[in-house]
Amino acid sequence: MCGIVGYVGNNKAQDFLISGLKRLEYRGYDSAGIVTLDKKGKATLLREKGKVSGLESKVSQNARDDQIGIGHTRWATHGEPSERNAHPHQAGDIYLVHNGIIENYKELKDQIKDHQFQSDTDSEVLAALINSFYQGGKHPLSNAVVQALKLVRGTYGIAVISVKNPGEIVVARSGSPLVIGVCQDETLIASDASALVGHTKKAIYLNDGEVATIAKDSISIKTLDSQPVSNKVETIQTDLSAIQKGGYDHFLLKEVMEQPQSLTETLRGRINVKDCTVHLGGPNLSDSELRKIKHIIIVGCGTAYYAGMTAAYYIEKFTPEITIEPVIASEYRYRNAYIPKDSVALIVSQSGETADTLACLREIKKQGIKTIGIVNSIGSTIAREVDGGTYIHVGPEISVASTKAYTSQSIAMIMFGLTIAQAKGVKSNTLAPYIKEIAALPQEIEGLLQSIPDTVKNIAKKYAKKYDHAIYLGRDTAYPTALEGALKLKEISYTDANAYPTGELKHGPIALVDDNAFEFFLLPENDLYDKSLSGLEEVLARGGHAIVVTDKSDFNHPVEQIITVQTGLKLLTPLLLNVVSQLFAYNFAVAKGLPVDQPRNLAKSVTVE
Ligand code: F6R
Repeated sequence: MCGIVGYVGNNKAQDFLISGLKRLEYRGYDSAGIVTLDKKGKATLLREKGKVSGLESKVSQNARDDQIGIGHTRWATHGEPSERNAHPHQAGDIYLVHNGIIENYKELKDQIKDHQFQSDTDSEVLAALINSFYQGGKHPLSNAVVQALKLVRGTYGIAVISVKNPGEIVVARSGSPLVIGVCQDETLIASDASALVGHTKKAIYLNDGEVATIAKDSISIKTLDSQPVSNKVETIQTDLSAIQKGGYDHFLLKEVMEQPQSLTETLRGRINVKDCTVHLGGPNLSDSELRKIKHIIIVGCGTAYYAGMTAAYYIEKFTPEITIEPVIASEYRYRNAYIPKDSVALIVSQSGETADTLACLREIKKQGIKTIGIVNSIGSTIAREVDGGTYIHVGPEISVASTKAYTSQSIAMIMFGLTIAQAKGVKSNTLAPYIKEIAALPQEIEGLLQSIPDTVKNIAKKYAKKYDHAIYLGRDTAYPTALEGALKLKEISYTDANAYPTGELKHGPIALVDDNAFEFFLLPENDLYDKSLSGLEEVLARGGHAIVVTDKSDFNHPVEQIITVQTGLKLLTPLLLNVVSQLFAYNFAVAKGLPVDQPRNLAKSVTVE
């Protein structure tokens, strides 16, 4: 959600700024802009509505050798996507880029008398406020930034430069990530380490409430209360291949196809098939602490929430005397929910930066409840603030729609449930089937990805031309899969898709069955198979257009399409069926000619409320 880059060094700032913005474009693609300063402080401000490629053409016609600059790719919050609302924003001597939301911007705006506002953004208000404290360079820029930030309510990651001092960038964060890339004779900044990959492996992650003054050969970090801090230089693990398409047309397809490897990374060193045991070191809970757990709250948004639901269905099957409540972070943060003391909270987030999830984490911690992160992005805010955690290690997820993270989040949480069950003394013959299937899942996905894509593609292409509505259906462990499948389809194909538990059909949704809609049935051959079949029959009796995804090899009902999944799995089949849903949504969107990796109105990593 919005991306920030910055450069100060001996090379052409424009080059890094544009390449960095391209890497961050998955975070926002309504508009983009950069500003660079020459040695005398003359500014070149270039902004463009739309994708970074538009800005890039503008930059090539206005190439500068300037060695300092900041840039931004925007996901609009205040004001429509337009050049005028694009960052950087200028106020007097300073230029600013901002991620986040200034909640009291109207109040602050009313107090600013000496600035003609050009945009509708909250960010320009912050720029003007900083400029008013800067007083034409009478005070150090970092002091002016601190004074302004002390008046601000909301979230921010900012980078600010001044024409009066074209050798430094001031950055600050509260609730919106910022990373400083440490190099020889140059310093880089970005809101996401992926922009730094290929330039440096050394990074300093800024914490909330910190302000850094950056020059090409120095970095000085203080708190808003002027206390000096020395943040750890950390190593960026990501390599270039992880953030390139690697021959695929889209990142989304690449990320679906790499699930056998990404899930293997999630499992590495954590599962012992011989002894049928699971070991997760990160949560840092002793057996006696694990035994005491009676409640698990799972907090997440969107796909992360559905992964939480998936895990909840499984964990309660094999763990005695435990209540599990998956909750949607944006709702939970404002509920007055009582959390019993014998609870643990799983905080699920691919990006580790989602504002709603982070707010819940902080609230839950205040209540003295132990928090465990199920996070992908290493060094992200959630990963740093939880009491313990399990990284899912799936590598960067660049496509805005989440795919490989869902599979690994679900499995990581099921494994956490298994560690509780082990500690509570659940018999090995209850847990072994789950552990064996988890260990087998990467290979099962591999087999599926070798056999099924063409079938799914052909069906998706056909249905994309015919239908405007989709109804996803599943029961028990296949119900969250149905929800996740519907979310994927609506996000990337803009097709109205909703999911229901199959057993709920007759309580309302069956009224939707008509010739404009198709039904996507996730039908694993499990204990509820026959009951799910009744739901299918009810739909067929009303002229429904059903696609059935099932592992039942002799499935034989008069449906429009059958996608048969061959598998040795019995318990985890819904996670395989979900891969079919991912491929279906992908091909459906491609058939409609849509920008799969960057769907309209969406952005990766939702750092605003
Ligand atoms: C769906 C999707 C979103 C995210 C949600 C949470 O494809 O990408 O629903 O899952 O915004 O994001 P994280 O996991 O980064 O907290």
